[in-house]
Amino acid sequence: MWRKVLAGAGFALQPWRTTAYRRSSSVSSAVNSILLRSLKEHYLEVSKMTPPPKVSPPSPFTIVKGAIDGSGPVLKRTYGDEEISIYVMRLANIIPGGGNDDDDGINQLFLHVDVSKPGQNDSLHFLCGLYPDAVGIHSVSMRPKLQSSGFLVVPSKYNGPVFEDLDERMRDALHGYIAERGVNESLFPFLQAWLYVKDHRNLMRWFKSVGSLINERKDASEN
Ligand SMILES: *[C@@H]1O[C@H](CO)[C@@H](O)[C@H](O)[C@H]1NC(C)=O
Ligand SMILES: *[C@@H]1O[C@H](CO)[C@@H](O)[C@H](O)[C@H]1NC(C)=O
Repeated sequence: MWRKVLAGAGFALQPWRTTAYRRSSSVSSAVNSILLRSLKEHYLEVSKMTPPPKVSPPSPFTIVKGAIDGSGPVLKRTYGDEEISIYVMRLANIIPGGGNDDDDGINQLFLHVDVSKPGQNDSLHFLCGLYPDAVGIHSVSMRPKLQSSGFLVVPSKYNGPVFEDLDERMRDALHGYIAERGVNESLFPFLQAWLYVKDHRNLMRWFKSVGSLINERKDASEN
C-alpha cells in the first residue's frame, strides 16, 4: 500500500539520532547543503508517487471544502435538523509511533462524530475507533459547539462516563444512534484513502518548508 511505500522509503520513521556538531559556520553550511539536497531528492521521489484511486464518500455525506489542508471536519451531512460532522485521525498521529509499523495501526482510525442541533449551544460528541469492519465508541460527551474543531483540545468539561461502564442496552442504543446517522464501517475506505492523500500533501509541504527555512537562514547569515 501507499503508506507502506512511504514507510519503506525510510521517511519519517527513523528515530532522530543525537549527533554533536561543532559550532562552525563552514560545517553548518556543508550540513545545510547535504540536508537540502536530501530534502529535494525525497521531495522529487514522493512527488512521483501515484496517488491511490479516488474513493467517494458514502452518500449522503459530502466532503467539507478545504478539509484536506485544515484540521476541521472532513465529512458533513444533515439528518433532520441535525448537522453531523466527522473528523478523522490516525492512531499514529495521536500517539507518536503508535501502531505506525503494523497493519493494526494503519487500519485503526480515530473518528470524532459531532451531532449538533440548531438553538443548542453544545453538541453531542462521540469519540470512536473506526476499523475496516467495525465502529467502536470510546466516549460520549457534550461539548461546546464552536470548540469542536480538533482532537487535541483537552476537554475542560466532564468527558462523559467510561463507556464500558454503561449498561449493555444503553451502549447498544448509542451504537444504534450513530449507525442511524450513517456512521458505520462503510466510512472506512473513503477516510483511509483521504488520509493517504492528506499525509502525502503534508509530507510534500514538509520537505518544502523545512528546505526553505534552512535556505533562508543560510542566506541571512551570509548577509
Ligand atoms: C446558549 O448560550 C447563551 C449565551 O451564553 C444563553 O443565553 C442561552 O440560554 C444558551 N442556550 C441554551 C439552549 O443553553
Ligand atoms: C452504513 O450506513 C449506510 C447509511 O445508513 C447504509 O446504507 C450502509 O448499508 C451501512 N453499512 C453497513 C456496513 O452497515
